Amino acid sequence: MSDDLLQRLREALGTQHVLTDESDVAAYIVDWTGAHSGRALAVVRPGSTEEVADVVAACHRAGVAIVPQGGNTGLVAGGVPDGSGNQVVLSLGRMRAIRDIDPVAGTITVEAGVVLADVQAAAAAAGRLFPMSLGSEGSCTIGGNLSTNAGGTAVLRYGMTRELALGLEVVLPDGRVWDGLRGLRKDNTGYSLKDVFIGAEGTLGVITAAVMRLFPPTPVRATAWVSVPDTASAVTLLGLVQAHAGAHLATYEIVNRAALDLVLTHLPGARDPAPGATSDWAVLVELAGTSDLDAPLEAALGEAVEQGLVEDAAFAGSSAQRSTLWALREGISEAQKVEGATLKHDVTLPIADLALWTDRITPILESILPGVRLVTYGHVGDGNLHFNLSPPVVDGGNGGDALLAAAGELTSAIYDSVAAARGSISAEHGLGSTKAAAAASYKSQVEVDLMRAIKDALDPQGLMNPGTLLA
Ligand code: FAD
Ligand code: MLT
Ligand code: ZN
Repeated sequence: MSDDLLQRLREALGTQHVLTDESDVAAYIVDWTGAHSGRALAVVRPGSTEEVADVVAACHRAGVAIVPQGGNTGLVAGGVPDGSGNQVVLSLGRMRAIRDIDPVAGTITVEAGVVLADVQAAAAAAGRLFPMSLGSEGSCTIGGNLSTNAGGTAVLRYGMTRELALGLEVVLPDGRVWDGLRGLRKDNTGYSLKDVFIGAEGTLGVITAAVMRLFPPTPVRATAWVSVPDTASAVTLLGLVQAHAGAHLATYEIVNRAALDLVLTHLPGARDPAPGATSDWAVLVELAGTSDLDAPLEAALGEAVEQGLVEDAAFAGSSAQRSTLWALREGISEAQKVEGATLKHDVTLPIADLALWTDRITPILESILPGVRLVTYGHVGDGNLHFNLSPPVVDGGNGGDALLAAAGELTSAIYDSVAAARGSISAEHGLGSTKAAAAASYKSQVEVDLMRAIKDALDPQGLMNPGTLLA
């Protein structure tokens, strides 16, 4: 049967786009973290919506599971195959056309494999802004962003990917194509079908194209790296910046000392922007607009200093200095990866409870694994912390083993306390295969039943990305 399917796929796509050699498939079967890998029957690289439909229909007839893949930068092992060797990885990497751009309507129509940075560049070339921004934007694709409902550093002002999407084109699990590629701002003609596929992590179909929203550019920025003593001060400062800057507040990110130390160690040329500061936390705050924004930022920080919320602030005086500050924030994931074993937790808390939560969970984790390094950073303006753990620094060099041995206990402690605070165990990365089971255990039976009903209605054979999102 698998030989017949491979033959059919080669006929549909051409032999060169059906990869089976070990060296050709290697990059597609291991995730970005390097911690999760599998085997694939084949990796297929269709070049059009029709070819995606042919592949999906052929796999549907053969009863073979499909794992859609974009840039393979996902952090929850949802885009790589399992170990069976029976799944087909469907890469959208050749579908990179920008089909249309309409600056007046504020829309861009792109194929799923377009890299996020290329969408940003196309928008800028048309005098518009596509605001979504992630550390992985040089490799992640718009199809992957939609499928994970990605967040990033612009959510505070522009929302998650879902809020930026107006229409989709999707190949359904039986190979039919749903053309919902409309750029309408208003369309109340029934269920919002696009929202079913956004954040579905490839479990309900393959997104092949999308209409995304564009905004007026905001070329003038005011950016500062602000040292604060604790998370409570960071949250209070957020309120002050909101009061002074209003809708100009674009980014509000937090970084703790352990995260900054990792970047200073591993990012070539990185320098501490506030070398004299003794604070354990820093905030990267940015205002964006069309006229000078230094005054509201300085006013907010001045008031914060008077209230004892801020120890020190380094302003970016040029675009080069701004890039240097941003590199410290965006370099954390890579720096932590260089150090080996990492336990990633991507949690959201109601923002009012965030400081109390961090204070409560820290001693609990310390008691489970003394010396564990809490590498905490993220989109604090959205209540979203990347609460990533690195191994204790130990003389014998077996800190990584100790971290992995305690992983279950550490993660359960974090998730239990997040659930108790009515937060979420996945703010923006999705569930993939690493969090699907845990998520089910924190959801009500009604919620699990609703999700299962949608999956069974659209994919009754269970061939779309099995094991991801739904355990
Ligand atoms: P992949 O990793 O290829 O796939 C992700 C999931 O989507 C898989 O389940 C896959 O099956 C499915 N999928 C992919 N394409 C399609 C498609 N066309 N149709 C249907 N299903 C599909 N994420 C954030 O949210 N915010 C961040 O700030 C952020 N920062 C990051 C920084 C770094 C350094 C890295 C490595 C990752 C970061 N991520 C972040 C995670 C990741 O980049 C996002 O989840 C991104 O949206 C994944 O896009 P991708 O194209 O790489 O998707
Ligand atoms: C980020 O915001 O840098 C990533 O989403 C966090 C991570 O890699 O864990
Ligand atoms: Zn993030």
